[in-house]
Amino acid sequence: MNIETIRAAFADHFGNTAGSVYASPGRINLIGEHTDYNGGFVFPGAIDKCMTAEIRLNGTNKIRVVALDLNETAEFGLDEADAPQQQWGRYIFGVCREIIKRNGKIGGFDTVFSGDVPVGAGMSSSAALESTYAYALNDLYNLGIDKFELAKIGQATEHNYVGVKCGIMDQFASLFGKAGNIMLLDCRSLEHKYYPFNPKGYKLALLDTCVKHVLAENPYNKRRESCEHVASVIRNRHPEVEFLRDATLDMLKEVKAEVSTEDYMRAEYVIEEVQRVMDVCSALERGDYETVGEKMYGTHEGMSKLYEVSCEELDFLNDIARKCGVTGSRVMGGGFGGCTINLIKEELYDAFIQEAFAAYNTRFGINPKLYEVVISDGAHKIA
Ligand code: GLA
Repeated sequence: MNIETIRAAFADHFGNTAGSVYASPGRINLIGEHTDYNGGFVFPGAIDKCMTAEIRLNGTNKIRVVALDLNETAEFGLDEADAPQQQWGRYIFGVCREIIKRNGKIGGFDTVFSGDVPVGAGMSSSAALESTYAYALNDLYNLGIDKFELAKIGQATEHNYVGVKCGIMDQFASLFGKAGNIMLLDCRSLEHKYYPFNPKGYKLALLDTCVKHVLAENPYNKRRESCEHVASVIRNRHPEVEFLRDATLDMLKEVKAEVSTEDYMRAEYVIEEVQRVMDVCSALERGDYETVGEKMYGTHEGMSKLYEVSCEELDFLNDIARKCGVTGSRVMGGGFGGCTINLIKEELYDAFIQEAFAAYNTRFGINPKLYEVVISDGAHKIA
C-alpha cells in the first residue's frame, strides 16, 4: 500500500496537518467455512493486503471521507438519521454508531482510505475496512475497548448497517492476525490458538474467478436461517444443542422428517465441516498436509453440493486443481464467487497455474487472477 499517495490525497482535501495512519488486513481461511455463525471453529490468518486510512479528528460532529480507490467522497453526521447512501460509507458510519452504542465518546474526523484487498473476492475487504476504523477510533479517542469488542463492533456494523448477518471470523482475523501464523478460533467462546503456518515444500495460492458475490442479497442470510432453524428443531430433543456445532449427524438424522430437504443439506454440511476443522487441526500438528488437502477438497464438495454456495467458475477451478494433482483446493469465504484457496506442492506450482489460466480462459473467455499471500499481522498503527 502506498502511504505517500494517501498522505498526498489527505493534504489535498484537508490541508497540510497530517493525521495518523492505520491499517487492517484481509484474511484467508484454511478451513471452516460457514461454521462461525454456527458457533463452530474456523482457521483463518490475516494477509499482507490491507485497508489503510489516514485520519485526523476535526473537532466537529461531521465525518468527511475520501474513498481514494473509488474517487468518491462523502460527508455525514454521527446520528442514526445521518446514514450515508454509499455502501462503503455505511461501513464507517456503522462502526461509529456501534462505538457510540457502547458509550464510546467520539466526534467528527477527516479521513482518506485506500486498500489492496480485492473487493468481492472472499478476502474480507469489508471486515478490513471496519477493523481499520474501529481500531483507529479506539486508539485516537483512547476508548479502552478490547480487540474482542472491536471485532464485535465490525460484525454488528455488518448486521445493522449493511444487512449481512455474518459471523465473527473476518473481523477477528483482521484484528488478531499474527505474522506467520493462522489461528484456530472457537467462534462461541472466542478462545483462539495460533499455529505457525509455513508448510515446507508447499505454496499457497488464491485463484480469483473474478465473479463477484453480493452477500447482502440474502443467500448468505438464508443459509444462516436454515442452520438456526435446524438447530432449534434438534434442540427440542437435545436441549444441550445451542448451535449446529453441538449437533451430531445422528441427531440430524432423527429430525429428518421435521425439516425441509434443503435445510437438512445445509445442516449436514455444517456438522461435517466442524469435524473437518478438527481433523485439519490434528493433521497440522502431525505435519500431514495430504490430509489437510483432502479435507479442503471435502469442504469444496460440501459447499458445492450441500450448502450450494459455489458456482460454475469455482467448481471449474476446483476440478482443474484435482486434475493437476494439487494437494488441496476449495472455495474460500462466503462463496457465490470469489477465490479458491490452493495448497500446492512447489514442483507442481508452475504447471498448475499455467493450466488453470489456459483452461479458465478457454472456458470463460477471461483470465482468473492469481494472488500469492503472506500471512501477516492484524490491525496496527503505521504512523
Ligand atoms: C463471510 C462471513 C464470515 C463467514 C464466511 C464463511 O466471509 O463474513 O462471517 O461466515 O463468509 O465462512
